[in-house]
Amino acid sequence: MSPKPTVAIIGAGVCGLGIGWRLAQAGCPVSVFERGQAGRGASWAAAGMLAANAETEPGEESLLPLTLASQKMWPGFAVELKDASGIDVEYRETGTLVAATNRDEAEQLRFTYEFQRDLGLAVEWLSGAEARKREPYLRPGVPGAIWAPDDHQVENRRLSEALKAAFLHAGGTLHENSPVAGIETEDGRAVGVRVGDDLHKADIVVLAAGSWSRDIPGLPQAALPPVRPVKGQMLSLCMDPKAPLATSVLWAPKIYLVPRADGRLIVGATVEEKGHDPELTAGGVLALLDAAWRAIPAIEELPIEEMWVGFRPTSRDDAPILGETGTDGLLVATGHHRNGILLAPITADAIARQILTGSPLPEAAPFTLARFAAKAAARPEIAAE
Ligand code: FAD
Ligand code: GLY
Repeated sequence: MSPKPTVAIIGAGVCGLGIGWRLAQAGCPVSVFERGQAGRGASWAAAGMLAANAETEPGEESLLPLTLASQKMWPGFAVELKDASGIDVEYRETGTLVAATNRDEAEQLRFTYEFQRDLGLAVEWLSGAEARKREPYLRPGVPGAIWAPDDHQVENRRLSEALKAAFLHAGGTLHENSPVAGIETEDGRAVGVRVGDDLHKADIVVLAAGSWSRDIPGLPQAALPPVRPVKGQMLSLCMDPKAPLATSVLWAPKIYLVPRADGRLIVGATVEEKGHDPELTAGGVLALLDAAWRAIPAIEELPIEEMWVGFRPTSRDDAPILGETGTDGLLVATGHHRNGILLAPITADAIARQILTGSPLPEAAPFTLARFAAKAAARPEIAAE
């Protein structure tokens, strides 16, 4: 039997840690290199919604087999992770309610509902009264809502901590405060990563550096993932956990609200094309609070606990980039945009399987980097961008 490959992973978000965990479980010598602290990138900033149904928009149909498969994996993944790490990631089956707050919005929402229903997604239409019965603190006069009974949530900060612990327990090596300064190649093959003056040799290098994935020196031009940062500002409010103002994940125009088990109410998020601009802005926070207050007026008296900024790793078509890159020995797992927490279980399995067996997971096969080259060949003006 050939020995298991040595793997170097760049980035300790949910993607890098999840892949590392699966590979360490399989007996591979795996090192994850993280320039700061593990799990403090987008994976920390996220809201933890697992919304394969409610977030599906026209144009995203091809992503559904992947998102639905990963959503189905979540209950077992959470249990396995707790056993492996001792950390409960608070996977909670709260469902998701998407509410309209006036008749115009209700018409639009009805259109979304019909689109999602026609795709066979798990969605139900609720009258305003039915929606308020589920969420009594919703603004009076809500005319209608979509109920997505399968769209749940996880505490994504605990998820990062659990993945780190599980990875270490499985025998992985984590190098924090270790920025990768370059990917080393020899004769067109990736052979390791450079950190400071050291070269860490590896049979396989996995690029999982989130919204920074294009910035790693040494990436061959053809392997550069078309990923950019999409900024999100977010905040949390403190509710009384014994009398929460919402029990399900709640969407309303320009806002989502995610009630945590400990009483925090996560309020998100802006979607901004501003590169890696780390500033919280008055306009961003105002927009979040205004939209949250329009959905649930009773938030007015809640203390603000925390405000933060994160960067979604967003690909040119908003779908993840998973698997081979065309450079031998170099794989990629990035571009998860708004769905990286939802897709964490399937991303880990897909990349581990590609490395261990040489063949892709069927659901992940359409999402390699090659799809961009194929599109560019069909439309040369894209290649010039
Ligand atoms: P990251 O978590 O960003 O990890 C990448 C890591 O690479 C970072 O830790 C970084 O420090 C490291 N790195 C970068 N450069 C280097 C280098 N040179 N050397 C070493 N390490 C390096 N998804 C959902 O499914 N549900 C949600 O509800 C949700 N809400 C979101 C809300 C917001 C505001 C944001 C910003 C995102 C949200 N997402 C959500 C998306 C999700 O957070 C991301 O898709 C996911 O976390 C990406 O994980 P990652 O591991 O690829 O990236
Ligand atoms: N999926 C929620 C967000 O990206 O804001």
